[in-house]
Amino acid sequence: MITVIGSLNMDLVIQMADFPQQGETVLGQHFQTSPGGKGANQAIAAARLGSNVTMIGCVGDDRFGHTLRTVLEQEHIDTTSLLTTSESTGIANILVHHNDNRIIVVPGANYKLEPTHLDAVKDVITQSQMVILQLEIPTETTAHAIKLCKEANVPVLLNPAPAANFDMCWMDDITYLTPNEIECAQLFGNDFDQTLEKYPNKLIITLGRDGARYFDGEYPIHVPGYMTKAVDTTGAGDTFNGALAYALVEGQSLDEAVYFANIAASLAVEQVSAQGGMPTLSKVYARMAGLDE
Ligand code: RIB
Repeated sequence: MITVIGSLNMDLVIQMADFPQQGETVLGQHFQTSPGGKGANQAIAAARLGSNVTMIGCVGDDRFGHTLRTVLEQEHIDTTSLLTTSESTGIANILVHHNDNRIIVVPGANYKLEPTHLDAVKDVITQSQMVILQLEIPTETTAHAIKLCKEANVPVLLNPAPAANFDMCWMDDITYLTPNEIECAQLFGNDFDQTLEKYPNKLIITLGRDGARYFDGEYPIHVPGYMTKAVDTTGAGDTFNGALAYALVEGQSLDEAVYFANIAASLAVEQVSAQGGMPTLSKVYARMAGLDE
């Protein structure tokens, strides 16, 4: 069983021909609301592939919160540890322009997920085969989750987004860290080769369409991405993380799991919205076998 401790947001997505400059007003092309939040996205990515997933998080007692809970339930994710609070459900304002996006998150209810709630559902956490974390919940809650996992010997996959909420003292206690290039530079500086060597088989840098890199203790490993036409890259990293957790829990080697996660992410970007394109297992295997070209 995989447990995700993280955020749920309603994404307010605007597609546009060009991002506005400072002080400029532009017209968007299309607007939609769609379920998101890095935590919920990663939970759905793993569940759609076949993982047994529990989501620990917090939503508001409002229309967005009810929708986000229902969406998880439709994906057969256990929501009994999902809190509802009087604070408004988190939202993300997402501007999409070709292959690029810009996201502002207002955490709202996500920041009501306190360490005491993790204690209340401690058994769920300690019985997990893997816990997935991101950084859209309070830092002290993330720290407490890592502590509980360490005590129970539960592997932790931490996706450091937004990177500003990462505490370097967690490095020893987490099993995998999956920054993208921007987050990696923010955390460790620009010398990726040296940083990768420092954290063998732990630090996995995602490179978008170019795949991912890590260091296996002896050699630098670059697992190439699958070239496809991206429609919306929102949630690509989340798909990578959910798929990586799925594959590792299934017993794949790190090399196999990163390749599997790259393929899953390539499928996700072919459709609009964070969760819309997240693939099932059969779709990933079909692409690996070259059957969907
Ligand atoms: O990673 C994409 C996600 O980031 C979006 O769904 C948005 O809600 C933000 O959390």
